[in-house]
Amino acid sequence: MTFREVLESRYSVRKFAPDPVPADKLAAVLEAVRVAPSAKNLQPVRFRLFTTPEELALVDACTPCRYGAPAVLLFCYDDEVAWKKEGRPDAGPVDVSIACTYAMLEAANQGLGSVWVMNADCAKLRELLSLPPRILPICLLPFGFAAPDAEPGPMHARRVPLEAMRLREEA
Ligand SMILES: Cc1cc2nc3c(=O)[nH]c(=O)nc-3n(C[C@H](O)[C@H](O)[C@H](O)COP(=O)(O)O)c2cc1C
Repeated sequence: MTFREVLESRYSVRKFAPDPVPADKLAAVLEAVRVAPSAKNLQPVRFRLFTTPEELALVDACTPCRYGAPAVLLFCYDDEVAWKKEGRPDAGPVDVSIACTYAMLEAANQGLGSVWVMNADCAKLRELLSLPPRILPICLLPFGFAAPDAEPGPMHARRVPLEAMRLREEA
């Protein structure tokens, strides 16, 4: 697939086939996480991969949004590592977003579906995983093969025109 085809074919998959993610595709998704850029190259992103029934049950206890995916990445950052500067937003959530976007696009490149999930009980996740206080969970990425009858949701096609995004100079 060309990069343009990856961008155009990706959509949020909300119905997955149960088949496990092949090892080479999984490795490609994780490598995308590894090479993602981060502020000052501090690389504060931390992840957990869930694939076993026990691990996936734990995910299900914290979100209604796994949609049957056979693999889920939890993206966190280490608050003691992420770039910070007074008066600026902390870079940790930005770094996580880049890593998750890389994973999402590499998944699409591998013929896998994925969905970015923020609708998760992060406090419960922290507790169930015994995460130390400096590790802050941000989002989940369920991924795997899309079910044969999976299709884009109605919001997929709804994008505002570019002009609606362009900031205008105040009069
Ligand atoms: C930051 C972020 C958080 C999201 N959280 C959820 C979520 O919790 N549950 C869900 O089903 N989809 C979630 N989505 C998917 C969006 O609803 C979806 O990307 C958007 O509607 C556009 O549809 P598309 O991805 O199919 O193009 C999230 C997407 C982003 C970027």
